[in-house]
Amino acid sequence: MQLSEMQQWLAQRRDQGLYRQEQLLQPLPEGQLSFDGQTLLNFSGNDYLGLANAPSLRQAFADAALSVGSAATGSPLVTGFQPAHAELCSVLCDWLGVEAVLLFSSGFAANQAMLSALVASDELLLLDKYCHASMQDVLMHGKLRFKRFPHQDFQALGQLLVKAQDKAVVVATEGVFSMDGDITDTQALLALLSAQQPLLLDDAHGIGVLGEEGRGSWQHCGAKATQLQCLMANFGKALAGQGGFLAGCRDVIDYIRQQSRHYIYSTALSPALCQAMVHSIELCRREQWRRDKLAENIALFRAGALAEGLPLCASLTAIQPLLCPDNGSAMLWSQALKQAGIWLTAIRPPTVPQARLRICLSAAHSPAQIAKLIGALIKTRPAATGSN
Ligand SMILES: Cc1ncc(COP(=O)(O)O)c(C=O)c1O
Repeated sequence: MQLSEMQQWLAQRRDQGLYRQEQLLQPLPEGQLSFDGQTLLNFSGNDYLGLANAPSLRQAFADAALSVGSAATGSPLVTGFQPAHAELCSVLCDWLGVEAVLLFSSGFAANQAMLSALVASDELLLLDKYCHASMQDVLMHGKLRFKRFPHQDFQALGQLLVKAQDKAVVVATEGVFSMDGDITDTQALLALLSAQQPLLLDDAHGIGVLGEEGRGSWQHCGAKATQLQCLMANFGKALAGQGGFLAGCRDVIDYIRQQSRHYIYSTALSPALCQAMVHSIELCRREQWRRDKLAENIALFRAGALAEGLPLCASLTAIQPLLCPDNGSAMLWSQALKQAGIWLTAIRPPTVPQARLRICLSAAHSPAQIAKLIGALIKTRPAATGSN
């Protein structure tokens, strides 16, 4: 593409209010951050359990950097599978009750690997319309046959399953939807599927947060990990790290290992990070108080916000979206909140169908911070946002 065409395109993005840019932030303890010399409350991060600032996790990472080093030095099948990687895999298997795990440099890569390997060319993939970009992107490659069903509409999914008749079908969805916060009833979904219709689940926002010892949304709904053909989750949210993984039975994971270009041709995770993630999982399993505190914060926020007539969605998780009528009002609201000491990024199309403020709660937030958020939301709310 010519430089002038790029410049024209960039100017158009700015005019449409769709231009994206990083903001230089300094994270601070207790759910805060510093931006441009100002300290703000952070309600946009995915540090659901408050582990990002846990002193023992920081210490574990520092110790691991000294003992096992930062560099994997190669892809997993070359030099990048070391004792730290093996230990993390075995800890994940023990925690989630699966036979095998493959580590990836991101959840994005793990999702791409999962769909690319596990949907054969003669199969039909049925995917929730709101699934994350990492899954939607695989569909753009043009190699998979797919149909999207309306968000969480199991009746529509049932009709697609009937229509597919004898055709082999694979279903993929998310355990907790990243922009809406709603939980998929995995057990009810599994009940719709036959033994020959595998379910692939992205639990990026469920792991650590839901289920016993934070195993995830599938367990919260009464399912077992072994009922999923493949489970994807990542370390970058509740577990306060980086990277992703796929989990399942030995043969499914081995099949992905042989097939996945994201696994074979990419540098493995840092061994220091793997060792730190072993510690993070230990904290996550042991420290139930973090999930209890998060649940208290969610209940507190919802009760306060609903009492004030804020237009909340039905979500019962840490992700609490406030829908806005248009991009402009979402941006205005977000900017006014910044003036009031609250960091809350506006999420706009094409990331979501309707502009919104996506509030992310954490166990690191205090009741006083949540009260301040509600007060600021009411004070800064643009007239057009209405109430429930
Ligand atoms: C639902 C969902 N799946 C996958 C990903 C990608 O994970 P990662 O950030 O580890 O690449 C994300 C992260 O934003 C997500 O929200």
